[in-house]
Amino acid sequence: MKSDSKFFKNSNSMPVDRFFQNVLYDKKNGYYNTKNPLGAKGDFITAPKISNLFSEMIAVWMVSIWEIFGKPKNLNIIELGPGDGSFIKVLLQVSKRFPEFDIAKKIYLFEKSKFLKQKQKRNINNKNIVWVKNFDNIKKGPVIFFGNEFFDAIPIKQFKRERKILFEKYYTFQRNFEIKETFKKASKQDIKMINSYKILKGLNFIEFPKIGINELNKIVKKILSLNGCILIIDYGYIKPNNLDTIQSVIKHKKNHIMKNLGKADITSHVNFSLLKEFFLKNSLIVNKTITQKDFLENMGIKNRAEIISKKMSFREKSDLYLRLKRLLSPKLMGNLFKVFLAHNLKETNYHGFK
Ligand SMILES: C[S@@+](CC[C@H](N)C(=O)[O-])C[C@H]1O[C@@H](n2cnc3c(N)ncnc32)[C@H](O)[C@@H]1O
Repeated sequence: MKSDSKFFKNSNSMPVDRFFQNVLYDKKNGYYNTKNPLGAKGDFITAPKISNLFSEMIAVWMVSIWEIFGKPKNLNIIELGPGDGSFIKVLLQVSKRFPEFDIAKKIYLFEKSKFLKQKQKRNINNKNIVWVKNFDNIKKGPVIFFGNEFFDAIPIKQFKRERKILFEKYYTFQRNFEIKETFKKASKQDIKMINSYKILKGLNFIEFPKIGINELNKIVKKILSLNGCILIIDYGYIKPNNLDTIQSVIKHKKNHIMKNLGKADITSHVNFSLLKEFFLKNSLIVNKTITQKDFLENMGIKNRAEIISKKMSFREKSDLYLRLKRLLSPKLMGNLFKVFLAHNLKETNYHGFK
């Protein structure tokens, strides 16, 4: 497939994660820095954009976690990759119903895209929210990290194992303007890293979220020093199965991953067992990963829908229940999306994770 070289900076050949990092986050041409990907007019839609009820359930969950923490006077909530800020808008509304929580909470947003940061600022319009590039200035009180569809958006590495030798996949820009898949022997450091994960043993095609793990290392450090947890909601799997899960979407339709570079979204499925192994290695406790359907139902999303729908017109009610179906149906988002929690507190009976 013919392409142009603008995402091959300084090199004609680069590992899959570095190439897609340029495609998605290049300051000038990157997908996330040039357009708003979210919503009906964008390329894909996420749970906070489908229904406010989703965000309400997460917000109430955060209040219950703050109670488990013993209602500390300072609570830090850090949203990872806040998109257009939809979740935070709902969190601020819910928070007002819990005055003590409202005073205690401090909200931080961790966002890589300058374009989306501006959008979030306009959309949320609240002076008390702080955008951060790292977590160094968060010093007092426990932390709740939350990321919805954050990890699927962070490029991953891909490897194949042949006759016990590990090769890393690269993309190489050729003279005829085609991008070709090539393989190079994996670095010693990457071999060591991959061999340290039991879940990856025996696979002949391996996906590894090295950039994502780098982000998580900073998060773990923060949780271990201040106490707290991380809640991750994303699409993904429990058992890796030699599959290439990188996918591209444009205007709500599947797209060839090399087509519309910089104009289409590129993601991969999250390996939740790998995340579990990572957090356990780092001395955190990991709850059983559950489906989005189970989590939202445990949090009472259906009761809430019933209550708010009482005053709705027939049309509004149908719309609400259609949206709920999209979030909960096992055939739609209900099963594919998983809810993952890692923390360092003795309490394991977390609301939502029955
Ligand atoms: C798929 S969107 C999800 C947006 C939002 N959470 C939602 O559910 O609507 C991914 C978000 O993560 C951000 N992001 C991706 N990689 C990031 C990184 N390494 N650091 C900070 N933000 C990142 C993107 O810019 C975007 O805001």
